[in-house]
Amino acid sequence: MLCKPIMCGIVGYVGKHKAADILIEGLKRLEYRGYDSAGLALLDEGGIELMKKTGRVDVVAKVAQSRPTTATMGISHTRWATHGGVTDGNAHPHLSWDGKIALVHNGVIENYAFLKAELEAKGVTFRSETDTEVLANLIAFCYDAESVSNGGGYSAAFVQAVRQALLQVEGTYGIAAMCADVPGELVGARKGSPLIIGVGNGENMIGSDVAAFAGRTQNVVYLNDGQVVHLHRGDFSITTVDSLSIDPVISKIDWSVEDADLGHYPHFMLKEIFEQPMAIENAMRGRFSQDGSTAQFGGLNIDPRELRQIDRIVFLGCGTAWHSCLVAEYLIEKFARIPVEVEYASEFRYRNAPLDKNTLVFTVSQSGETIDTLEAMREAMRKGYRVLGITNAVGSTIARENDGGIYQHSGPEIGVASTKAFTAQVHIAAMLALYLGRMRDMSFTDGRHVVSALQKTPGLISQVLDRAEEIEHIAHKYADKNDFLFLGRQLMFPIALEGALKLKEISYIHAEGYPAAEMKHGPIALICPDCPTVAFAPKGEIFKKVLSNIQEIKAREGPVIAITNAGKEFPEGLADDVIKLPESPEVVQPTLFTVPVQLLAYYIAVARGCDVDKPRNLAKSVTVE
Ligand code: AGP
Repeated sequence: MLCKPIMCGIVGYVGKHKAADILIEGLKRLEYRGYDSAGLALLDEGGIELMKKTGRVDVVAKVAQSRPTTATMGISHTRWATHGGVTDGNAHPHLSWDGKIALVHNGVIENYAFLKAELEAKGVTFRSETDTEVLANLIAFCYDAESVSNGGGYSAAFVQAVRQALLQVEGTYGIAAMCADVPGELVGARKGSPLIIGVGNGENMIGSDVAAFAGRTQNVVYLNDGQVVHLHRGDFSITTVDSLSIDPVISKIDWSVEDADLGHYPHFMLKEIFEQPMAIENAMRGRFSQDGSTAQFGGLNIDPRELRQIDRIVFLGCGTAWHSCLVAEYLIEKFARIPVEVEYASEFRYRNAPLDKNTLVFTVSQSGETIDTLEAMREAMRKGYRVLGITNAVGSTIARENDGGIYQHSGPEIGVASTKAFTAQVHIAAMLALYLGRMRDMSFTDGRHVVSALQKTPGLISQVLDRAEEIEHIAHKYADKNDFLFLGRQLMFPIALEGALKLKEISYIHAEGYPAAEMKHGPIALICPDCPTVAFAPKGEIFKKVLSNIQEIKAREGPVIAITNAGKEFPEGLADDVIKLPESPEVVQPTLFTVPVQLLAYYIAVARGCDVDKPRNLAKSVTVE
């Protein structure tokens, strides 16, 4: 059976330092991409040495420590598998049948069965169930032929063999390969899966994410689909799969190694929750007009007059990003009166949605690599629509391929459960709504009120974070429950969905988000003493309605945790627990009300002994459908 490695992490190194330590360090930083098994292959005068094991990177790190090696180059991999067993044999790297080629791969070789049959007919035997081993053997076959015709020019033959093999492959790949005959050289390539070059001083790296280079270099080159890189210790060159030469563009990563470290926090998720005031500051920096009445964005690449003609916006995203799209819908319709539709990117790409000529498409993605969002974007672009993006990862595929957009500047988000990236997306959605609103009917004075409210957000979030201990206490009270409801109306509905998703993801508790008024149409049947409800009750038009919903739950003996910014207006004794938030204008509320549910999910997961940063079955970046 095919064992597909899909959302994996790749790191390759060639330099003058001990490769094993650098590869392990890089893998640990990419472990969020998959953590079923890990492995590395090192190359020195003694040939290729392979170590791979099921389990976390730490397991293979121990193996590496027990085998002192001085190799200064190697490739490595951390894997997230779907089909087939998680076994040592299926872990990467894979060696070709003749031991010449070692390969790590992120993606799916769709025509692996055909290629495998051809190789088997030529006498090749296979040791694993993976499509990656098929590619390793194909490269080895091409290498044999190339090195003969090159008269022993091993280096050129190796690169050409990789190109030749990739020309026969259907599917997606980010790969790193090395050849036993060619010490000191690595070859990488990408199509559909990310691959980035880390340009160092007397050393070079390749990785699935810039996090792999933290502490070694901040200079990177983002490879495009169909490109192949040939790395030596001191230089590198890029060509296309069909051998055309490419001039590299070196970019600088805008965050430091400390940003990607835990610091004094026990988990990345908690660190990232506490980084939210800064993430929101970063999202706003330089983005308000001088007169303080509107937002401004440098990278939209669209003429304001053209933007004024837009009469419909479609937002595309997945998971948490989809929730932030729902907030954007509400705020843009309210401030700018432009009809907005929100679609799951995965649905949009296959349903041939009719798009009007004045429709603008927005994608929202933290990683900028989610395949469903990327393909939905490409589909909209193929149809000729302008697609803008709200993206966190600078240089990611979505950010590079879209027509323009807004970077979040949230810094690296490593916890699998998205937190600071979500609130930054929500905040940017509010700024975008303001910008579009001011181009239409929103007055100067109203614009200034919104700007002033948005600018207060970091301080307000800090006030919520100050209540973390109180929320931890509430979390302990409910940590043994196995079902939760999250109820919110209007702007709080997406936050209810997000609260339920956070709890599901990291504590494996069944949780549902619902519009509060919908409860009586079905979910009310779930209410019982063992099913707590988290009810969002912001002051405003729907406050009293939500209080009535809470009464209905209490009448059925359901425990209620209310989150409100109301003071005395919130009736004493109505809810079992009340998390009081500071007074805030409506535009800030989605961000502010998210923070307590992030903390609640976090503390419940910790109390249940769950692996918060690496929840079971999940990976941070979903790079195949
Ligand atoms: C968030 O907690 C999830 N892990 C997941 O839903 C995520 O938001 C989704 O996969 C989209 O990712 P993206 O923002 O990187 O595109």
